[in-house]
Amino acid sequence: MDINILAIESSCDDTSAAIIQNGVVLSNCIANQEAHKIYGGVIPEVASRAHQLNIIPVVDLALQRAGLSKEHISAIAFTKGPGLIGSLMVGVSFAKSMALSLNIPLIEVHHMMAHVLAHFAERPHPGFPFLCLTVSGGHTQIVRVNSHLEMEVIGKTIDDAAGEAFDKTGKIMGLDYPAGPIIDQLASKGEVKFKFPEPKIPGLDFSFSGLKTAILYFLKKELKTNPNFLKEEMNHICASVQARIVSILLNKLEKAVKETGIKTVAIAGGVSANSGLRKSLQEKGLQEGWETFIPRFEYCTDNAAMIGVTAYYKYLKGEFSTQSVAPMARLPFSLKG
Ligand code: KG4
Ligand code: ZN
Repeated sequence: MDINILAIESSCDDTSAAIIQNGVVLSNCIANQEAHKIYGGVIPEVASRAHQLNIIPVVDLALQRAGLSKEHISAIAFTKGPGLIGSLMVGVSFAKSMALSLNIPLIEVHHMMAHVLAHFAERPHPGFPFLCLTVSGGHTQIVRVNSHLEMEVIGKTIDDAAGEAFDKTGKIMGLDYPAGPIIDQLASKGEVKFKFPEPKIPGLDFSFSGLKTAILYFLKKELKTNPNFLKEEMNHICASVQARIVSILLNKLEKAVKETGIKTVAIAGGVSANSGLRKSLQEKGLQEGWETFIPRFEYCTDNAAMIGVTAYYKYLKGEFSTQSVAPMARLPFSLKG
Protein backbone atom coordinates (compact mmCIF):
# COMPACT_ATOMS: atom_id res chain seq x y z
CA MET A 1 0.00 0.00 0.00
CA ASP A 2 1.19 3.53 -0.77
CA ILE A 3 2.38 5.74 2.07
CA ASN A 4 0.83 9.16 1.40
CA ILE A 5 1.92 11.94 3.73
CA LEU A 6 0.23 15.33 3.90
CA ALA A 7 2.85 17.81 5.14
CA ILE A 8 2.29 21.32 6.48
CA GLU A 9 4.91 24.03 6.98
CA SER A 10 3.96 27.28 8.71
CA SER A 11 7.04 28.31 10.71
CA CYS A 12 7.48 31.82 9.35
CA ASP A 13 5.66 33.82 6.68
CA ASP A 14 4.80 31.24 3.99
CA THR A 15 1.99 28.69 4.29
CA SER A 16 2.88 25.49 2.48
CA ALA A 17 1.30 22.05 2.02
CA ALA A 18 2.69 19.06 0.14
CA ILE A 19 1.84 15.45 -0.63
CA ILE A 20 4.65 12.90 -0.51
CA GLN A 21 3.96 9.39 -1.83
CA ASN A 22 6.48 6.72 -0.77
CA GLY A 23 9.09 9.48 -0.35
CA VAL A 24 8.38 11.08 -3.75
CA VAL A 25 6.94 14.61 -4.00
CA LEU A 26 3.54 14.62 -5.74
CA SER A 27 2.69 18.25 -4.98
CA ASN A 28 4.28 21.19 -3.16
CA CYS A 29 2.09 24.31 -2.85
CA ILE A 30 3.12 27.59 -1.24
CA ALA A 31 1.07 30.70 -0.42
CA ASN A 32 3.49 33.60 -0.08
CA GLN A 33 2.58 36.42 2.28
CA GLU A 34 3.18 39.79 0.67
CA ALA A 35 1.82 41.70 3.68
CA HIS A 36 5.24 42.05 5.36
CA LYS A 37 6.93 44.08 2.62
CA ILE A 38 5.45 47.36 3.81
CA TYR A 39 6.85 46.81 7.32
CA GLY A 40 10.38 45.86 6.20
CA GLY A 41 10.21 42.50 8.00
CA VAL A 42 7.87 39.76 9.17
CA ILE A 43 5.26 40.89 11.73
CA PRO A 44 4.38 37.75 13.73
CA GLU A 45 0.74 38.66 14.37
CA VAL A 46 0.17 39.46 10.67
CA ALA A 47 1.87 36.18 9.72
CA SER A 48 -0.32 33.99 11.96
CA ARG A 49 -3.52 35.61 10.69
CA ALA A 50 -2.45 35.06 7.09
CA HIS A 51 -1.67 31.38 7.87
CA GLN A 52 -5.23 31.00 9.16
CA LEU A 53 -6.62 32.36 5.91
CA ASN A 54 -4.28 30.34 3.69
CA ILE A 55 -4.05 26.93 5.30
CA ILE A 56 -7.30 25.31 4.08
CA PRO A 57 -7.00 26.49 0.43
CA VAL A 58 -3.32 25.44 0.32
CA VAL A 59 -4.05 21.95 1.72
CA ASP A 60 -6.96 21.57 -0.75
CA LEU A 61 -4.70 22.59 -3.63
CA ALA A 62 -1.94 20.16 -2.57
CA LEU A 63 -4.44 17.27 -2.51
CA GLN A 64 -5.96 18.32 -5.83
CA ARG A 65 -2.58 18.61 -7.57
CA ALA A 66 -1.56 15.19 -6.23
CA GLY A 67 -4.83 13.71 -7.53
CA LEU A 68 -5.71 12.38 -4.06
CA SER A 69 -8.50 12.91 -1.55
CA LYS A 70 -8.12 13.05 2.23
CA GLU A 71 -9.17 9.39 2.60
CA HIS A 72 -5.90 8.41 0.86
CA ILE A 73 -3.66 10.11 3.45
CA SER A 74 -1.63 7.77 5.68
CA ALA A 75 -0.20 10.40 8.08
CA ILE A 76 -0.06 14.14 8.67
CA ALA A 77 3.28 15.90 9.19
CA PHE A 78 3.88 19.40 10.47
CA THR A 79 6.69 21.73 11.55
CA LYS A 80 6.98 21.66 15.34
CA GLY A 81 9.70 24.37 15.44
CA PRO A 82 11.82 26.39 15.48
CA GLY A 83 9.85 29.39 14.21
CA LEU A 84 7.32 32.05 15.14
CA ILE A 85 5.09 30.58 17.85
CA GLY A 86 1.80 31.99 16.48
CA SER A 87 2.59 30.78 12.96
CA LEU A 88 3.61 27.32 14.17
CA MET A 89 0.45 27.14 16.27
CA VAL A 90 -1.76 27.40 13.16
CA GLY A 91 -0.01 24.48 11.41
CA VAL A 92 0.20 22.31 14.53
CA SER A 93 -3.49 22.83 15.46
CA PHE A 94 -4.61 22.14 11.89
CA ALA A 95 -2.49 18.96 11.66
CA LYS A 96 -3.67 17.68 15.06
CA SER A 97 -7.36 18.16 14.32
CA MET A 98 -7.12 16.64 10.85
CA ALA A 99 -5.18 13.61 12.14
CA LEU A 100 -7.75 13.16 14.91
CA SER A 101 -10.72 13.35 12.55
CA LEU A 102 -9.14 10.93 10.04
CA ASN A 103 -7.74 8.69 12.80
CA ILE A 104 -4.24 8.60 11.27
CA PRO A 105 -0.74 9.18 12.76
CA LEU A 106 0.73 12.59 13.39
CA ILE A 107 4.44 13.28 12.70
CA GLU A 108 6.33 16.27 14.13
CA VAL A 109 9.28 17.58 12.11
CA HIS A 110 12.23 19.81 13.05
CA HIS A 111 12.40 22.66 10.52
CA MET A 112 16.21 22.71 10.24
CA MET A 113 16.44 18.94 9.84
CA ALA A 114 13.87 19.26 7.05
CA HIS A 115 15.98 21.88 5.22
CA VAL A 116 18.82 19.32 5.15
CA LEU A 117 16.56 16.47 4.02
CA ALA A 118 15.14 18.63 1.20
CA HIS A 119 18.03 17.00 -0.69
CA PHE A 120 16.07 13.74 -0.66
CA ALA A 121 13.17 15.32 -2.52
CA GLU A 122 15.19 14.99 -5.73
CA ARG A 123 17.83 12.80 -7.30
CA PRO A 124 20.72 12.09 -7.02
CA HIS A 125 20.82 12.14 -3.22
CA PRO A 126 24.02 12.84 -1.30
CA GLY A 127 25.55 9.71 0.26
CA PHE A 128 26.21 9.48 4.03
CA PRO A 129 28.03 10.97 5.78
CA PHE A 130 27.82 14.42 4.22
CA LEU A 131 28.20 18.02 5.35
CA CYS A 132 25.32 20.43 4.86
CA LEU A 133 25.66 24.19 5.12
CA THR A 134 22.15 25.22 6.16
CA VAL A 135 21.67 28.93 5.63
CA SER A 136 18.29 30.54 6.22
CA GLY A 137 16.70 33.69 7.62
CA GLY A 138 17.03 32.49 11.19
CA HIS A 139 19.89 29.97 11.17
CA THR A 140 23.37 29.38 9.81
CA GLN A 141 24.76 25.95 10.56
CA ILE A 142 27.25 23.39 9.32
CA VAL A 143 25.59 20.04 9.91
CA ARG A 144 27.30 16.66 9.82
CA VAL A 145 24.64 14.29 8.46
CA ASN A 146 25.27 10.66 9.45
CA SER A 147 21.95 9.20 8.27
CA HIS A 148 18.46 10.46 7.42
CA LEU A 149 17.53 11.10 11.02
CA GLU A 150 20.93 11.41 12.69
CA MET A 151 22.73 14.70 12.34
CA GLU A 152 24.76 17.08 14.47
CA VAL A 153 25.52 20.78 14.25
CA ILE A 154 29.30 21.25 14.16
CA GLY A 155 29.31 25.01 13.50
CA LYS A 156 26.78 27.81 13.88
CA THR A 157 26.39 31.56 13.91
CA ILE A 158 27.10 33.37 17.16
CA ASP A 159 24.90 36.34 16.19
CA ASP A 160 23.01 37.03 12.92
CA ALA A 161 22.14 34.35 10.37
CA ALA A 162 23.38 34.63 6.77
CA GLY A 163 19.84 35.46 5.58
CA GLU A 164 19.64 38.19 8.22
CA ALA A 165 22.95 39.59 6.97
CA PHE A 166 21.38 39.94 3.51
CA ASP A 167 18.08 41.30 4.85
CA LYS A 168 19.57 43.75 7.36
CA THR A 169 22.21 45.18 5.00
CA GLY A 170 19.47 45.45 2.37
CA LYS A 171 17.32 47.39 4.81
CA ILE A 172 20.23 49.79 5.45
CA MET A 173 20.39 50.31 1.67
CA GLY A 174 16.62 50.94 1.50
CA LEU A 175 15.71 47.64 -0.20
CA ASP A 176 12.42 45.81 0.40
CA TYR A 177 12.10 42.75 2.65
CA PRO A 178 13.32 40.08 2.06
CA ALA A 179 16.39 41.76 0.60
CA GLY A 180 18.33 38.54 -0.11
CA PRO A 181 16.85 37.86 -3.57
CA ILE A 182 17.04 41.59 -4.48
CA ILE A 183 20.73 41.84 -3.53
CA ASP A 184 21.34 38.65 -5.54
CA GLN A 185 19.74 40.22 -8.61
CA LEU A 186 21.51 43.60 -8.30
CA ALA A 187 24.85 41.90 -7.57
CA SER A 188 24.70 40.17 -10.95
CA LYS A 189 24.96 43.62 -12.57
CA GLY A 190 27.85 44.83 -10.37
CA GLU A 191 31.52 44.20 -9.61
CA VAL A 192 33.19 43.35 -6.30
CA LYS A 193 34.54 46.88 -5.89
CA PHE A 194 34.44 47.39 -2.12
CA LYS A 195 36.13 45.30 0.56
CA PHE A 196 34.18 44.56 3.70
CA PRO A 197 35.93 42.88 6.68
CA GLU A 198 35.93 39.12 7.25
CA PRO A 199 35.40 38.37 10.98
CA LYS A 200 37.95 36.21 12.78
CA ILE A 201 35.86 33.69 14.68
CA PRO A 202 37.50 30.54 16.06
CA GLY A 203 36.48 27.03 15.01
CA LEU A 204 33.55 26.42 12.69
CA ASP A 205 31.31 29.19 14.04
CA PHE A 206 30.17 32.22 12.05
CA SER A 207 29.51 35.88 12.79
CA PHE A 208 27.66 38.33 10.55
CA SER A 209 26.73 41.24 12.82
CA GLY A 210 30.03 43.08 12.16
CA LEU A 211 29.32 43.16 8.44
CA LYS A 212 26.07 45.03 9.00
CA THR A 213 27.85 47.64 11.14
CA ALA A 214 30.73 47.94 8.65
CA ILE A 215 28.29 48.66 5.83
CA LEU A 216 26.37 51.19 7.91
CA TYR A 217 29.55 53.21 8.67
CA PHE A 218 30.88 52.79 5.14
CA LEU A 219 27.67 54.25 3.67
CA LYS A 220 27.52 57.08 6.22
CA LYS A 221 31.08 58.09 5.30
CA GLU A 222 30.61 57.86 1.52
CA LEU A 223 27.24 59.63 1.54
CA LYS A 224 28.85 62.62 3.32
CA THR A 225 31.05 63.33 0.30
CA ASN A 226 28.62 62.12 -2.38
CA PRO A 227 24.87 62.13 -1.55
CA ASN A 228 24.23 60.06 -4.70
CA PHE A 229 26.75 57.37 -3.71
CA LEU A 230 24.17 54.71 -2.91
CA LYS A 231 22.21 55.26 -6.10
CA GLU A 232 25.33 55.32 -8.30
CA GLU A 233 27.08 52.37 -6.66
CA MET A 234 24.13 50.15 -5.62
CA ASN A 235 24.99 47.21 -7.89
CA HIS A 236 28.67 47.25 -6.86
CA ILE A 237 27.80 47.49 -3.16
CA CYS A 238 25.43 44.51 -3.54
CA ALA A 239 28.09 42.50 -5.40
CA SER A 240 30.62 43.31 -2.66
CA VAL A 241 28.25 42.45 0.22
CA GLN A 242 27.26 39.18 -1.44
CA ALA A 243 30.88 38.23 -2.16
CA ARG A 244 31.82 38.76 1.49
CA ILE A 245 28.86 36.74 2.85
CA VAL A 246 29.70 33.93 0.40
CA SER A 247 33.41 33.96 1.31
CA ILE A 248 32.63 33.81 5.05
CA LEU A 249 30.40 30.77 4.40
CA LEU A 250 32.75 28.93 2.07
CA ASN A 251 35.88 29.49 4.17
CA LYS A 252 34.21 27.82 7.14
CA LEU A 253 32.86 25.04 4.96
CA GLU A 254 36.37 24.39 3.67
CA LYS A 255 37.62 24.25 7.26
CA ALA A 256 34.85 21.76 8.12
CA VAL A 257 35.82 19.53 5.17
CA LYS A 258 39.46 19.57 6.33
CA GLU A 259 38.55 18.78 9.95
CA THR A 260 36.06 16.00 9.22
CA GLY A 261 37.59 14.57 6.03
CA ILE A 262 34.07 14.50 4.54
CA LYS A 263 34.10 15.67 0.93
CA THR A 264 30.41 15.29 0.13
CA VAL A 265 29.07 18.80 0.60
CA ALA A 266 25.52 20.19 0.30
CA ILE A 267 23.86 23.54 0.86
CA ALA A 268 20.28 24.12 2.04
CA GLY A 269 17.89 26.84 3.26
CA GLY A 270 16.70 30.11 1.74
CA VAL A 271 20.20 31.55 1.19
CA SER A 272 21.19 28.46 -0.83
CA ALA A 273 19.05 30.04 -3.58
CA ASN A 274 21.75 32.73 -3.88
CA SER A 275 23.42 32.55 -7.27
CA GLY A 276 26.79 33.75 -5.91
CA LEU A 277 26.83 30.97 -3.29
CA ARG A 278 25.67 28.32 -5.78
CA LYS A 279 28.33 29.29 -8.33
CA SER A 280 31.15 29.58 -5.76
CA LEU A 281 30.30 26.20 -4.21
CA GLN A 282 30.35 24.57 -7.61
CA GLU A 283 33.74 26.12 -8.45
CA LYS A 284 35.17 25.24 -5.06
CA GLY A 285 33.91 21.67 -5.46
CA LEU A 286 35.70 21.29 -8.78
CA GLN A 287 38.90 22.81 -7.37
CA GLU A 288 38.96 20.74 -4.19
CA GLY A 289 37.49 17.48 -5.47
CA TRP A 290 34.28 17.75 -3.44
CA GLU A 291 31.04 16.15 -4.55
CA THR A 292 28.57 19.02 -4.27
CA PHE A 293 24.75 19.05 -3.97
CA ILE A 294 22.75 22.21 -4.68
CA PRO A 295 18.96 21.98 -4.30
CA ARG A 296 16.41 23.14 -6.86
CA PHE A 297 15.12 26.65 -6.04
CA GLU A 298 11.72 25.44 -4.82
CA TYR A 299 13.45 23.29 -2.18
CA CYS A 300 15.76 26.08 -0.90
CA THR A 301 13.27 28.45 0.73
CA ASP A 302 10.60 27.24 3.14
CA ASN A 303 8.38 24.52 1.65
CA ALA A 304 6.27 21.62 2.89
CA ALA A 305 7.89 19.03 0.59
CA MET A 306 10.96 18.98 2.86
CA ILE A 307 8.70 18.46 5.89
CA GLY A 308 6.97 15.54 4.11
CA VAL A 309 10.23 13.92 3.02
CA THR A 310 11.57 14.06 6.59
CA ALA A 311 8.25 12.69 7.89
CA TYR A 312 8.49 9.77 5.44
CA TYR A 313 11.72 8.57 7.09
CA LYS A 314 10.12 8.99 10.53
CA TYR A 315 7.04 7.06 9.33
CA LEU A 316 9.25 4.15 8.26
CA LYS A 317 10.70 4.05 11.79
CA GLY A 318 7.28 4.44 13.44
CA GLU A 319 8.22 7.76 15.05
CA PHE A 320 4.80 9.29 15.66
CA SER A 321 3.62 12.14 17.90
CA THR A 322 0.68 12.22 20.28
CA GLN A 323 -2.18 14.73 20.45
CA SER A 324 -0.38 16.46 23.33
CA VAL A 325 2.40 17.74 21.05
CA ALA A 326 2.88 21.53 21.14
CA PRO A 327 4.80 23.93 18.88
CA MET A 328 8.17 25.27 20.10
CA ALA A 329 9.60 28.60 19.03
CA ARG A 330 13.07 27.40 20.01
CA LEU A 331 13.81 23.77 19.41
CA PRO A 332 17.27 22.37 20.14
CA PHE A 333 18.83 20.48 17.27
CA SER A 334 19.56 17.06 18.72
CA LEU A 335 21.23 14.07 17.14
CA LYS A 336 17.84 12.58 16.41
CA GLY A 337 14.92 14.60 15.06
O1 KG4 B 1 14.77 29.14 4.64
P1 KG4 B 1 14.00 30.39 4.47
O2 KG4 B 1 12.98 30.46 3.35
O3 KG4 B 1 13.23 30.75 5.78
C1 KG4 B 1 13.75 30.54 7.06
O4 KG4 B 1 13.65 29.39 7.56
O5 KG4 B 1 14.34 31.53 7.59
O6 KG4 B 1 15.06 31.58 4.29
C2 KG4 B 1 14.69 32.91 4.11
C3 KG4 B 1 15.96 33.74 3.91
C4 KG4 B 1 15.71 35.25 3.88
O7 KG4 B 1 16.64 35.87 4.76
C5 KG4 B 1 15.98 35.64 2.43
O8 KG4 B 1 16.48 36.94 2.27
C6 KG4 B 1 17.01 34.60 2.04
O9 KG4 B 1 16.58 33.41 2.66
N1 KG4 B 1 17.09 34.40 0.57
C7 KG4 B 1 18.16 34.75 -0.16
C8 KG4 B 1 17.85 34.45 -1.52
N2 KG4 B 1 16.60 33.91 -1.55
C9 KG4 B 1 16.15 33.88 -0.24
N3 KG4 B 1 19.35 35.29 0.21
C10 KG4 B 1 20.22 35.55 -0.77
N4 KG4 B 1 20.00 35.29 -2.09
C11 KG4 B 1 18.84 34.74 -2.51
N5 KG4 B 1 18.63 34.49 -3.79
ZN1 ZN C 1 13.52 27.72 6.72
